[in-house]
Amino acid sequence: MKLVLLGPPGAGKGTQSVRLAQHFAIPQISTGDILRKAVKDKTKLGSLAKKYMDSGTLVPDEVVIGIIRERIIEPDCKNGYILDGFPRTIAQAEALDEMLERIGTQVDHVVNISVGDKEIIKRLAGRRTCISCGAGYHILFDPPKQEGVCDRCGGKLIQRDDDKEETIRARLKVYQQQTEPLIAYYKGKHLLHSIPGEGNMEEIFSAILEALGEKSPKAGS
Ligand code: AP5
Repeated sequence: MKLVLLGPPGAGKGTQSVRLAQHFAIPQISTGDILRKAVKDKTKLGSLAKKYMDSGTLVPDEVVIGIIRERIIEPDCKNGYILDGFPRTIAQAEALDEMLERIGTQVDHVVNISVGDKEIIKRLAGRRTCISCGAGYHILFDPPKQEGVCDRCGGKLIQRDDDKEETIRARLKVYQQQTEPLIAYYKGKHLLHSIPGEGNMEEIFSAILEALGEKSPKAGS
């Protein structure tokens, strides 16, 4: 299963990718997570990416395409993967098609999660991420058991640098201009499933599974 998750910042791509990765036993590949790790580790890639990420703009296509090209040939990707945050431009989508075509395969499904701007700002302003293991929380909608501490590993929970309201607005603009055209791109290829992303996280997960022709865990129990 090669699945692409589309949606504006804060739509719940990361939240749903984690669940889908577990369900299908395939890796979640988040270009945002890969870039944030590079920034944290102060690598060459990280110092290049930082200025784009801090301003809410996109890292150049050739850089992220190179990351994906190397990542999807890793052994853990042999049964498929979930792409979270890639592609984000038509050029990235075309490069992905080309990469897959060369190895005789293609994207199986694209799920577009849609959420309104007001809800996005509420979600991103309250998002907290574990500095150690990367687990995601929300101070109101998905709080940790102990404030500021990760349930999974005990790590410190922090707010992402790009989750300031001003940067969120810049990211939304970039999404509308550069990423939204992918909806029509994948609709044209008959790969698109549109899922309303407002509501309970588990219900949204079930709706995605249903769109993919899978039995939801609730229905199966
Ligand atoms: P990236 O990390 O990909 O950020 P994004 O696309 O802006 O998406 P987010 O991670 O902000 O949101 P999400 O949809 O994953 O939402 P989440 O599940 O966390 O990219 C960051 C930057 O890296 C970019 O700006 C760019 O610079 C660069 N970059 C990355 N990929 C690139 C690419 N391909 N090309 C070029 N540059 C690239 O949910 C958000 C919050 O809401 C959480 O707190 C969660 O708990 C909560 N929540 C989730 N679902 C629900 C729900 N149903 N109800 C209530 N709360 C919910």
